[in-house]
Amino acid sequence: MKKLVIIMMLLAFVGVNVAIAADSYTYDNKKGTVTFNHKAHQDALGDCAKCHEGEPAKIAVDKDFAHTTCKGCHKEMNGPTKCNDCHKK
Ligand code: HEC
Ligand code: HEC
Ligand code: HEC
Repeated sequence: MKKLVIIMMLLAFVGVNVAIAADSYTYDNKKGTVTFNHKAHQDALGDCAKCHEGEPAKIAVDKDFAHTTCKGCHKEMNGPTKCNDCHKK
């Protein structure tokens, strides 16, 4: 019984701890600013699991993620793949 109470408290804690994503994120670097419209991607792709593993949470977007995961999907789905499609001065 005690165990059940503890499990329920843990579940409640996870339940109220859901993060909300911003509509869009920008990344500044020497090649130019990249804007990632999270909301537009959510709406266009529907499935969170296209980008998130498990419960959607923060992803560290670095050069590697961008040029592998972002660009990789764009290649498959006819999204932007040229440098200046993403990087704006
Ligand atoms: C096209 C890829 C993609 C899709 C589809 C996507 N996300 Fe994300 N999401 C990201 C990326 C990238 C980040 C990290 C952005 C950053 O912090 O720089 C993120 C961040 C988040 C975060 C963390 C916000 C924070 O700052 O703590 C949440 C929550 C989230 N997404 C929820 C969702 C949900 C729910 C869905 C589906 C309805 C979804 N995402 C679909 C790519 C995606
Ligand atoms: C799972 C597939 C997928 C992933 C991952 C993905 N995209 Fe996209 N993205 C698309 C598709 C499909 C389009 C074209 C949508 C359209 O034309 O309506 C697009 C369009 C774009 C556009 C141009 C339209 C706009 O929203 O301004 C930019 C810029 C962009 N993506 C940036 C990113 C970045 C940065 C990331 C990674 C953080 C990323 N995308 C990850 C599928 C993806
Ligand atoms: C799908 C969108 C997309 C495309 C296409 C793209 N990039 Fe990026 N690039 C990004 C994102 C997002 C980052 C990570 C932003 C950050 O960490 O500041 C990034 C990071 C970089 C960085 C900064 C690395 C650093 O650590 O400072 C350089 C330089 C760069 N890209 C050059 C290029 C070049 C050159 C091309 C074309 C061959 C290209 N990118 C194509 C989205 C893209």
